[in-house]
Amino acid sequence: MEQKITSLSKEKRVFHPKEPFSRRAHIKSMAQYKKMYNESIKNPEKFWAKAAEELYWFRRWKEVLKWKPPHAQWFVKGKLNMSYNCLDRHLGSWRRNKAAIIWEGENGDTATWTYQQLHSQVCKFANVLKMLGIQKGDRVCIYMPMIPEIAVAMLACARIGAVHSIIFGGFSSSALVDRINDAQAKLVVTADGAYRRGTIVKLKENVDNAMADCPTVENVVVVKRLEQEVIMHYGRDHWYDELMHSVDDVCPAEQLDSEHPLYILYTSGTTGKPKGILHTTGGYTVMTYLTTKYVFDIKEEDIYWCTADAGWVTGHSYVVYGPLLNGATTVMYEGAPNYPDPDRFWKIIDKYKINVFYTAPTAIRAFIKWGEEWPRKHKLDTLRLLGTVGEPINPEAWMWYYKVIGKGKCPIVDTWWQTETGAIMITPIPGATPTKPGTVTLPFFGIVPEVMTKEGKKCKVNEGGYLVITKPWPAMLRTIYKDDHRYQRQYWSEYPGIYFTGDGARKDKDGYFWIMGRVDDVINVSGHRIGTAEVESALVAHAKVAESAVVGRPDDLKGSAICAFVTLEGKYAPSEELKAELKEWVVKQIGALARPDEIRLTEALPKTRSGKIMRRLLREIATQGIVTGDTTTLEDFSVLETLRDEEE
Ligand code: WT7
Repeated sequence: MEQKITSLSKEKRVFHPKEPFSRRAHIKSMAQYKKMYNESIKNPEKFWAKAAEELYWFRRWKEVLKWKPPHAQWFVKGKLNMSYNCLDRHLGSWRRNKAAIIWEGENGDTATWTYQQLHSQVCKFANVLKMLGIQKGDRVCIYMPMIPEIAVAMLACARIGAVHSIIFGGFSSSALVDRINDAQAKLVVTADGAYRRGTIVKLKENVDNAMADCPTVENVVVVKRLEQEVIMHYGRDHWYDELMHSVDDVCPAEQLDSEHPLYILYTSGTTGKPKGILHTTGGYTVMTYLTTKYVFDIKEEDIYWCTADAGWVTGHSYVVYGPLLNGATTVMYEGAPNYPDPDRFWKIIDKYKINVFYTAPTAIRAFIKWGEEWPRKHKLDTLRLLGTVGEPINPEAWMWYYKVIGKGKCPIVDTWWQTETGAIMITPIPGATPTKPGTVTLPFFGIVPEVMTKEGKKCKVNEGGYLVITKPWPAMLRTIYKDDHRYQRQYWSEYPGIYFTGDGARKDKDGYFWIMGRVDDVINVSGHRIGTAEVESALVAHAKVAESAVVGRPDDLKGSAICAFVTLEGKYAPSEELKAELKEWVVKQIGALARPDEIRLTEALPKTRSGKIMRRLLREIATQGIVTGDTTTLEDFSVLETLRDEEE
């Protein structure tokens, strides 16, 4: 860790859950939370076994946990199926006629799918997958808009034991190529396109551009979302609708081993190559089920909306799997929060009478900027619980969310977790935990986080350090796909047997955790993780670029902005046009989410004598904003000389 972890927050306000909320909540008091937490820590296996019993198992497990650090197996030798637990389990009750998914397209299209309807579509699509030669264990890449069919594709894979790998629709075709090839996917499910802020995202075209470099893909299934002309390659491409007509809706769920892989999800790390985070079935199912129940306090009659895209882990765990496991009604929205106007979210909340709403701090900050008049136009009176995830929420944004959206009556659950953890790890329990703006508060049941010094000692109260998880948990990643060595190095080498999160944190006198952001070369842009190395390798792949270093700098809206320092090959002159060209180049290589906010063309990058780029210095320059003309002067090497010595 280069920068020192210091904490300046002086937040003193405390918000207690209101009595009417607590009275009706699953967990009603701090005393109850503490009792359950202590029991869950004293005997985690008993705690998780009890949770698992609320789900359906074809065969009961023999052992709850087998832990050979850093490899865990949960519910060993148990057999279950995620799709069965999300769907079939509810069909024997009145829930079969309950709305499973309420969907709204950006263009105003709507659809409501009951559990029975969703089940029938999932069975059909599972048969389609089988017809196209997909077998248990095969990887299926999903590159789709937020439409109900993305949930169908996920659940159909889970039903037959195929492993899905969802790639967020904002990624470019080059990003698709890398991820499809790493996973060796045999099939891609996509759509003719998606609506985004009134324009059309050409998903199918991106897939077409990727296909020449993806030798493992045999078939592409295309959902018709738009009336968009697309090229269909004979023999390879198939319309979803046509295939669905040719199969029946009976498809028994495979009885899968608890440790059978459920999905791979790529996330950025500290090298240029994204990591394929592998999640398996049993533990993930149990923990997404239980966290959804207790953190979102899900009630039978609730309408629940998590605004995340299914392309991120939040969409996996808390748009699709967690809510459906609980038999809840989950709302899916396809588009942007400010289309056609900045009150689209609030309109949706009133229209569907949403009770539980889960979104990201970056969205909240954008709403603040767009002005209070937009939410004020709407009643928002059905809301009873709010949540946030993805990055630290600044106390101002927390207060705005609490007052303007929650009208001072809704608890806020600020939930800390990661793609790797699979499920929420540190969070308030809404009917129990007093909250303070900016803290993720206390661990979920069975979770033992700690803040540690570099030397592996527990930090003192309010002393900043590394956030670690000291005990295995059911939804933890099992490995990095095809790279167990990297898994061990990345997460388990800092402290043996202890999971290293990559985040800095402190614990206050009440034991509340305050997350202070990443301590590695990963930046959190609008709640999405971008590896600086990934952007750097995209930049140096450009013919005019000699070298580059990418750092994050604080940004009011996005949390962090991407700032790229670039040195050019000798014969090229710096210009504004070239900067624009490089930004577009990165978009093409990775996707719009990685577009640098700023490119600084510089004659040299400051380095230590051993040749290491001095990122700390670059972060300072990026933050303080010293620019002259269209080149950055890093030429004052006399200053750098001294810094160089310090750095070594
Ligand atoms: C990183 C994980 C897990 C869903 C979305 C992001 C940051 C996440 C919080 C929070 C402060 C948070 C951390 C973490 N983060 N939630 N409530 N408060 N920081 O998933 O892309 O895997 O990113 O997001 O830095 O390590 P992800």
